[in-house]
Amino acid sequence: MSITVTVDGAVTEARPEERLLDLLNRTGTKIPQVCYHPQLGPIQTCDTCMIEADGKLVRACSTLAGVGMKVLTNSARVVAAQREAFDQILGNHMLYCTVCDNNNGNCTVHNTTKLLAVEHQKIPFNTKPYEVDNSNPFYRYDPDQCILCGRCVEACQNVEVNETLSINWEDPHPRVLWDGGAKIGESSCVSCGHCVTVCPCNALMEKSMLGHAGFLTRIPKRALNGMIDIIKGIEPDTGYGTILKVSEAESAMREARIRRTKTVCTYCGVGCSFNIWTKDRHILKVEPSEGPANGISTCIKGKFAWDFVNSAERLTQPLIREAGKFREASWEEALALVARRMTEIKAANGPDSLAFISSSKCTNEESYLMQKLARAVIGTNNMDNCSRYCQSPATVGLWRTVGYGGDSGSIKDIENASLVLIIGSNTAESHPVLATRVKRAHKLRGQKLIVFDLRENEMARRADLFVRPKPGTDLVWLSAITRYILENGLAKTSFLSQWVNGLEEYKESLEPFTMEFAEKTCGLPIETLKRVAHMIAEAEGVCVLWAMGITQHTMGSDSSTAISNLLLVTGNYMRTGTGAYPLRGHNNVQGASDHGAMPSNLPGYQSVDDPEVRVRFEAGWNAKLPTTKGLDNHEMIDAIHEGKLKAMYLFGEEISLVDSNSNFVNDGLAKLEFFVVQDIFFSKTCQFADVVLPASPSLEKEGTFTSTERRIQRLYQVFEPLQGSRPDWQIIQDVANRLGANWHYQHPSEIYREIASLTPLFAGVTYERLEGYKSLQWPVAADGADEPLLYRKHFNFPDGKARLFPLSYSQPTDQPDQEFDLHLNNGRLLEHFHEGNLTYRSDGIREKTPDTFVEVSPELAEERGIQSGTWVQLVSRYGKVRVRAVVTDRVHGRELYMPMNSAETPVNKLTGSHTDKITHTPAYKEASVNLRVLESGENPLPRVNSRFGHPTPNSGVEVERKWKRPDYRMPGTKNAQNHASNEGSNGD
Ligand code: SF4
Ligand code: SF4
Ligand code: SF4
Ligand code: FES
Repeated sequence: MSITVTVDGAVTEARPEERLLDLLNRTGTKIPQVCYHPQLGPIQTCDTCMIEADGKLVRACSTLAGVGMKVLTNSARVVAAQREAFDQILGNHMLYCTVCDNNNGNCTVHNTTKLLAVEHQKIPFNTKPYEVDNSNPFYRYDPDQCILCGRCVEACQNVEVNETLSINWEDPHPRVLWDGGAKIGESSCVSCGHCVTVCPCNALMEKSMLGHAGFLTRIPKRALNGMIDIIKGIEPDTGYGTILKVSEAESAMREARIRRTKTVCTYCGVGCSFNIWTKDRHILKVEPSEGPANGISTCIKGKFAWDFVNSAERLTQPLIREAGKFREASWEEALALVARRMTEIKAANGPDSLAFISSSKCTNEESYLMQKLARAVIGTNNMDNCSRYCQSPATVGLWRTVGYGGDSGSIKDIENASLVLIIGSNTAESHPVLATRVKRAHKLRGQKLIVFDLRENEMARRADLFVRPKPGTDLVWLSAITRYILENGLAKTSFLSQWVNGLEEYKESLEPFTMEFAEKTCGLPIETLKRVAHMIAEAEGVCVLWAMGITQHTMGSDSSTAISNLLLVTGNYMRTGTGAYPLRGHNNVQGASDHGAMPSNLPGYQSVDDPEVRVRFEAGWNAKLPTTKGLDNHEMIDAIHEGKLKAMYLFGEEISLVDSNSNFVNDGLAKLEFFVVQDIFFSKTCQFADVVLPASPSLEKEGTFTSTERRIQRLYQVFEPLQGSRPDWQIIQDVANRLGANWHYQHPSEIYREIASLTPLFAGVTYERLEGYKSLQWPVAADGADEPLLYRKHFNFPDGKARLFPLSYSQPTDQPDQEFDLHLNNGRLLEHFHEGNLTYRSDGIREKTPDTFVEVSPELAEERGIQSGTWVQLVSRYGKVRVRAVVTDRVHGRELYMPMNSAETPVNKLTGSHTDKITHTPAYKEASVNLRVLESGENPLPRVNSRFGHPTPNSGVEVERKWKRPDYRMPGTKNAQNHASNEGSNGD
């Protein structure tokens, strides 16, 4: 239904509840709007969008269209008001566009000066009594150029919800404040870049832009100031029109040398996409705007951690091991050696003596080719990827109960939940942008948040209820509250009877899971468990988010299943705001499995032992395929030790550090007869290789990634591959062809065409349908219809019904005892990714978080005489490390936490070889150590780490405080403070 509005005399259809500014933008009426950003909503600080609505001056951004409303956008009153408002802005901002790095055609202040045809400003520019703040490694704030629009504050407070920024409206010289007045570098700022991204001018700028974007901006500061003075000097005579023409000519010249290329983040599984601005091989900035998962959002890694791409340490020539040393080799020689040795080993020991490991950092097309090489060229199903290390148990839990092994909805569906339950996920650090949506819904919409975790992470601090169960006992409390819900009439019985099979058998399996058993096993009060049960049962919609705190246990698959059982019993599937969300770690860990990099499945989870499936692939690939499941990552290491596995080809995977019990893994890798490692750096794993092949990172190739939302997105090539390196898909094709395959892929789109033709799950995926920022969430039907929310009509089983899956409990392994008396937990950090091979190559990130550490609780620190910085030795049943302590109340009691991000001090020297019994995912979270205090040292976390800041939560820009200033007058009115007019705004 639409309503009719008259705009400048023309009848116009408006959507109900549409903001007048959105209507005017949609229908092409040009109107100034300096502080407005559609993803931030109306901030109402700039007053430049003044229009007349039914005879009254109002802000178009905060006024909703009304039936029959008469809108004037160019009356004399309107024009005068807009000019008056913009004059205020120019009083806060010096126009020196020609020598400004923000003069790139998209500067809002520049463009508004032009739109309003400003020739001279009435309010002269006045400097503010503050210095430029350069203390953050990635961006700087120039208070003199700040127009006090407050976009940055709104983004920080209510989109990122880090709550660092505010404006001191009552001060004679307001400015943006970090933590109420700290230096940026010493504040709580997490360098997510939201504020920089939305700043409409050059007040906040990426340092990588400064001196690089413009033709005249790299000149020394004194000369630059001189040029600014010249520009300002001619303004009274020539007016801004002439000056803007010069700056626009300069800006147009930039167009020719600045490239803006869409890509998808290479770090976590959220799937942020953005434009990368480059000049030659220099990355000017990352500009997020319309990514379907992230909009204007990024985290520190996606926004700023790209130095690795141009690192001098990139591999640019193949290496061959000879007499225990590596020497450089030509591609020809290296590829010939790979083909010869693989052929020899296959001939001598059979195809199953070789194994292949795909990269969850690389593209779908590359995983597809790797598994095609293993199956169709070599003839083995010994094929896996690193989802074995984290997500396989979650996938099993969902396969058992609802049928698809992916998140049941989108990030938007999580936003819509009335209750979010996070279990074993440090979401704010591991999936930062996804976490912002939960933080925002919690802050602004009253979404409830429950967190179960061992450690008090940021989400736990924000939660309405934070619960710390004993390690490895989640299955018990999950099952106990499910039983309580069923027994107390809190279950969704109509949903169960219509949509769910197996209720009776499942109920019987719950028999041991009494509240008393849960209290004793999990160490949680019954009252707390009952409260959780009631909150879940009474919520309108519940989404459960989980990650490695659940999956990396010996009960990982069963605990994941217990989550899905709980969701089924409470009817929390099939609608937005409900469902199961195992959060995928790597950017393409979902896609690697989806595209067949698994020992039991061909692409699209089609079983290797299904003859019909094999016939289809054999016809498509013109090859005979192996018929039985192959070895997974974990089994491969055992098979090497047993002498059954002789050769391995691995790309983009740091198995030497990230597999558990790394001493055992490395001993195995050293025993391989032939080992090919393909990577962009000489990783720790490369040390065990016989041949190292230099590959290209995501910015140097095309392809697709699949994010945690099952969202397939295209990445475009930003740079040519660094001389000497090659995209992985080309290398795999070269190896395959030397082994007798006859592949002729010229572009990844051709690979995807083949995938779609063989895989019903992706039948309708084409590069055309993924052009630019378009995306598809699998399953994708042949006509291109995708499913952002799964199970809207039925579950993915033949009868359309979900299945409750009976479970039993067994104790976690590697428990503390007298000798190993402390439990060691481990996981991610915001600033680094995984083992840190990419992020440690960023100077800015190293400045913030230079090294690894072990978190020790204040209680344990006191007992053992430990301070932040004290060196300690941790010894487990499998190995030992030496590391510095950080004393923090994030951990409590005899619980330690070590980030996984270190190549020098890998936590996996301490973890063991126990695994989830279904998937063989290592039980990384079941580890015990003892601790010996060594010498004292410096705190491994420097003062500039965001942890030491003091956020200043508020409701956002708080423009009402500006309106209360004695010198504020609403443009076009005589009212000094003009409350009446402000109250008349009816926006949100
Ligand atoms: S956390 Fe820092 S970078 Fe992110 S929006 Fe806030 S001030 Fe800006
Ligand atoms: S720094 Fe913030 S308040 Fe200042 S102009 Fe930029 S977005 Fe607006
Ligand atoms: S690391 Fe994850 S949250 Fe951060 S920008 Fe990349 S995809 Fe987004
Ligand atoms: S756009 Fe700034 S007040 Fe409306």
